[in-house]
Amino acid sequence: MKDHFGREIDYLRVSVTDRCNLRCTYCMPEEGVPPLTHAQILRFSEILRICEAAADLGIHKVKVTGGEPLVRKGIVSLIHDLKQIPGIEQVTMTTNGILLGEMYEELAEAGLDAVTVSLDAVTPESYRRITRRDELGKVLASLETVKERGLIPCKINCVALPDTPDEELGAIAGFAREAPVHVRFIELMPLGHGSGIERLPEEACMKRLFPYTGLLVPFDGILGNGPARYYTAEGFRGKIGFISAISHAFCDSCNRLRLTSEGFLKSCLYYDTGVDLRPALEEGGKEALRAAVRAAVERKPLCHSFRKTENEEKRENTDRRDARQMSQIGG
Ligand code: 5AD
Ligand code: SF4
Repeated sequence: MKDHFGREIDYLRVSVTDRCNLRCTYCMPEEGVPPLTHAQILRFSEILRICEAAADLGIHKVKVTGGEPLVRKGIVSLIHDLKQIPGIEQVTMTTNGILLGEMYEELAEAGLDAVTVSLDAVTPESYRRITRRDELGKVLASLETVKERGLIPCKINCVALPDTPDEELGAIAGFAREAPVHVRFIELMPLGHGSGIERLPEEACMKRLFPYTGLLVPFDGILGNGPARYYTAEGFRGKIGFISAISHAFCDSCNRLRLTSEGFLKSCLYYDTGVDLRPALEEGGKEALRAAVRAAVERKPLCHSFRKTENEEKRENTDRRDARQMSQIGG
């Protein structure tokens, strides 16, 4: 499926819940997040119908996200059922890793093709400061399971923040030395609760990593489905990647749509542009859903405006910034 600007759209991110067992400062407030009710959240049968319609139109890869996807009851059966959809070649998940160790075997059995673990710090103090919870031990244990069992390819995503000590950024990069795991450093995007928080730009992050990775040599091969640009570090088994929406915008190669847990199909992470799939779901037929998915693709904007002021945006554009939080959209 091609969008208005000729980009091939073959990847769908599906947020299955807005709930999470962490409270990362850039994503959620400490308290007072009223979770969506069961009636507001898409049922698995609805998610499957949407993915079937999307697969008919050329979506080949589905990423299950949240909130935290592993806190949703029955998630393993959803993975299994997504894998049965004709045309869906790859089902992957992004998780904070807390429950990954204990669910690892059943996820592998269900056919999960790959997993991305979010890890922003490696000391209990930094981890607590960023996530407001004491769950580091469980995440590290899950990563041990991932390494030992080796059934599901794994990547690590680290949102690099200015006050994360260099040694910790270096230690996170170090996971790619020990195991064939790609570690990606993400530039914080000024979205929702992340808006007021300072980010660590890619170049600054690279400088801080240098003592731990040595020279990072650009890697030209193709890796993964997304916007990461990869580097090789000598002696490392995995690559070091950077996902930098602000300093290296990747909109020209954007290949994705995003489904919120309430059933809104977003055309772009940044804008509120998209299509509410509820009416098409209620209508019942497959064609209505396919038409709604096509409409979301047609509405995909050319590029986000993270670097523009709101006034500049208003003058140039009719699309509006999305007021949703990342926990509703899926990181
Ligand atoms: N900017 C960049 N990434 C974010 N995430 C959440 N909020 C943001 C943001 N503002 C990503 C992180 C996190 C995952 C769940 O979503 O990678 O680990
Ligand atoms: Fe949970 Fe991810 Fe948000 Fe952290 S960033 S609170 S892990 S959804």
